[in-house]
Amino acid sequence: MHEIVTIVGARPQFVKAAAVSRVLRRVADEYLVHTGQHYDEAMSQVFFAELGIPPPDVNLGVGSGPHGAQTGTMLAAIEEVLLERKAKMVVVYGDTNSTLAGALAAAKLHIPVAHVEAGLRSYRRDMPEEINRVLTDHVSTLLFCPTDHARECLRREGIVEGVEVVGDVMVDVLEGVRPRLEHGIAARFGMSGPYVVATLHRAENVDEPGRLQRALEVLDAVPYSVILPVHPRTRASMERLGLTWPDRVTAVEPLSYVEMLSLVAGAEAVLTDSGGLQKEAVLLGTRCLTLRPETEWPETLEGGWNTVVDLDAARVVEILRGAAPRGSVSGLGDGNAAERIVQAIVDAAS
Ligand code: UD1
Repeated sequence: MHEIVTIVGARPQFVKAAAVSRVLRRVADEYLVHTGQHYDEAMSQVFFAELGIPPPDVNLGVGSGPHGAQTGTMLAAIEEVLLERKAKMVVVYGDTNSTLAGALAAAKLHIPVAHVEAGLRSYRRDMPEEINRVLTDHVSTLLFCPTDHARECLRREGIVEGVEVVGDVMVDVLEGVRPRLEHGIAARFGMSGPYVVATLHRAENVDEPGRLQRALEVLDAVPYSVILPVHPRTRASMERLGLTWPDRVTAVEPLSYVEMLSLVAGAEAVLTDSGGLQKEAVLLGTRCLTLRPETEWPETLEGGWNTVVDLDAARVVEILRGAAPRGSVSGLGDGNAAERIVQAIVDAAS
């Protein structure tokens, strides 16, 4: 048995770790570190309970803050844990400040880093996540790509060693919860007719007043009711800027994973700036409109399932009134990504 230290901290990482931890714990000792980046019950604890993720062995309680302070505090705290645990390998997920802090702490101690969801790129350095991805990939030993496209992005940066296309772990999780999805969940939120699900949380959209105002105009133009679980960052921005949601929007607290997927499955469409939700929508057979100028997931664009619309209200209406998507999306994985990841980790750590 080898001790593997896993670092998580933000909502999408809990979902991804759910898939890998389950398999990893059959064959290795895992020590699970929660940085505390997300700390609200609805942003953190609910995912552990619902997805059966083992409780964190330690919560570093780092909380919110400016990027430097948040990442720096995590870096120092993770370093202490890694020294104490004599970690054989560190596993990090995705592209948050918790990912970068975990990867950097490990790399500086010469502990191999396994990056799950390696090779994603928007090619926009003004996105905090892009900096986190690039730096994490460049200090990682094992790079688990969800798609062939991600592997190609790494190759262009000269990263070829330790790279494996394993599929997207989010497919593993989604397939696991599919039987638990609740039909007709929208009624609980007061939706009687067709509706769309919207989410908004990217700093480029919600921290900039002009962009947030335009996003509200997009939501207002949608020819359906809109249900929108509000991310804490977005709630804070709305309050700071004195903005209110358009009438057609039902703003609700952040939802659990099963609630969210249930709502998405019954929706006419999803409008989002999230990475994960683009895939979840198309895998559930719901059309997605991405409220950003680009996507890291070109596979989802196949057959018109996902369209990059940025904040163009007219285009959103045109697509929602237009022809339905065709065929299905492929290339995101077969639901067995976690098995491949764990096999590679165990091989490398022994
Ligand atoms: C982070 C990730 C982003 C990921 C997202 C998922 C970075 C740079 N960004 O963004 O990649 O898509 O998580 O949700 O790591 N807050 C609360 N309660 C919480 C968490 C946050 O109130 O439980 C508030 C705080 O006021 C905080 C703000 O939300 O300042 C933003 O949180 P932060 O962790 O800085 O980044 P996210 O926007 O959540």
